[in-house]
Amino acid sequence: MTEIKSTNYSVFVSKNSFKDIIRFLKTNSKGYSKLFILVDENSFKYCYPNLVTKVLPFKDAEIIEIESGEKNKTIEICAQIWGTLSDYGADKNSLFVNFGGGVISDLGGFVASTFKRGIPFINIPTTLLSQVDASVGGKTGINANNLKNEIGVYSNPLAVFVSTDFLSTLDSRQVTAGMAEIIKHGLIADVKYWKKIKKCKAGDLDMLKKCIVDSIKIKNEVVIQDPKEKGWRKILNFGHTVGHALETFFLEESSMKPLLHGEAVAIGMVCESYLSTKVCKLKDTELKEITNFILSTFKPLTIEPIYHHRLIELMTHDKKNANGAINFSLLSGIGKCEINKTATADLISDSLKYYSDQVILFKK
Ligand SMILES: NC(=O)c1ccc[n+]([C@@H]2O[C@H](COP(=O)([O-])OP(=O)(O)OC[C@H]3O[C@@H](n4cnc5c(N)ncnc54)[C@H](O)[C@@H]3O)[C@@H](O)[C@H]2O)c1
Ligand SMILES: [Zn+2]
Repeated sequence: MTEIKSTNYSVFVSKNSFKDIIRFLKTNSKGYSKLFILVDENSFKYCYPNLVTKVLPFKDAEIIEIESGEKNKTIEICAQIWGTLSDYGADKNSLFVNFGGGVISDLGGFVASTFKRGIPFINIPTTLLSQVDASVGGKTGINANNLKNEIGVYSNPLAVFVSTDFLSTLDSRQVTAGMAEIIKHGLIADVKYWKKIKKCKAGDLDMLKKCIVDSIKIKNEVVIQDPKEKGWRKILNFGHTVGHALETFFLEESSMKPLLHGEAVAIGMVCESYLSTKVCKLKDTELKEITNFILSTFKPLTIEPIYHHRLIELMTHDKKNANGAINFSLLSGIGKCEINKTATADLISDSLKYYSDQVILFKK
């Protein structure tokens, strides 16, 4: 077991962290008045049976199940869960358990932090993406007005329990999506780590499991320095200004199959690496290296030029913006990131075109 200490909680990582969960439950000598476990149909089907047979106190928990998917990260679903919590008499001595991927920890963390002005919660992430990123750092929230994470609060869990065994039922698309945040951690903070990541093939779970602790440590160090994103924490948004716009765009275009968060961020990282060569000091050779690795890992996509305008419009809503300019966190080299960089709409459009051109070249 590896324990990574964060601001006022720890992240426990092991093959299965059931013993750590049991130990944690015992540290509350008075016991919790009630346990609630938030799941979606997949974490319930694939992971819950194992959890409940190993962590016996969870047998008495109320299970709250929501439908999986980003489209359910909404205020309506929150309202349903708040209603259930009221019906079952949840109070400040209850424990709320987020058991699933990043949608569950973002939404469930928000529900718990706002119900009766906040009840305690823990995260037990079950996707690669949520184990390496979403469940750590205290950001909770939901989408609103067609915008990603528009409403939310910073609120830390009491603890995070990462069991890598849970990942065995993830399909390869989800595994690869999780790799995007791992790639981001290497690119923004650690060139040596990036070299290790480059040895991983898409969907290679055994190799990727060896990256989980490294990634959590990188994220954690950034978050400890700047918990509320006053400045430095913005480096974690590399790839996300373009990525979030793409994710929203694919959600609002009902004719299109939604892009997973990690898939959108992967494209965002190619575009923002292009911007990094124009606005920061990323070398063309480094851009090529990043582009090649991402294109060989993620399914390529074509972004038609007619969509650029709407995508840039969506970027203007990004929470990093100030004074009307679109704000980016960009690379000055592999392993080095700078915050508060801006780019014009034309340059952003060029970066989207760069991605699409590279896709065409890659397919040849
Ligand atoms: N708060 C943060 O700091 C932060 C950071 C990164 C991402 N996020 C958010 O996280 C979300 C993406 O997270 P995600 O990729 O985990 O998405 P997700 O929660 O939608 O999970 C992906 C899919 O995997 C299924 N699933 C979960 N565990 C499984 C298992 N063990 N076996 C089989 N299937 C399983 C889910 O039901 C879902 O269909 C986005 O909403 C993103 O905005 C938040
Ligand atoms: Zn992300």
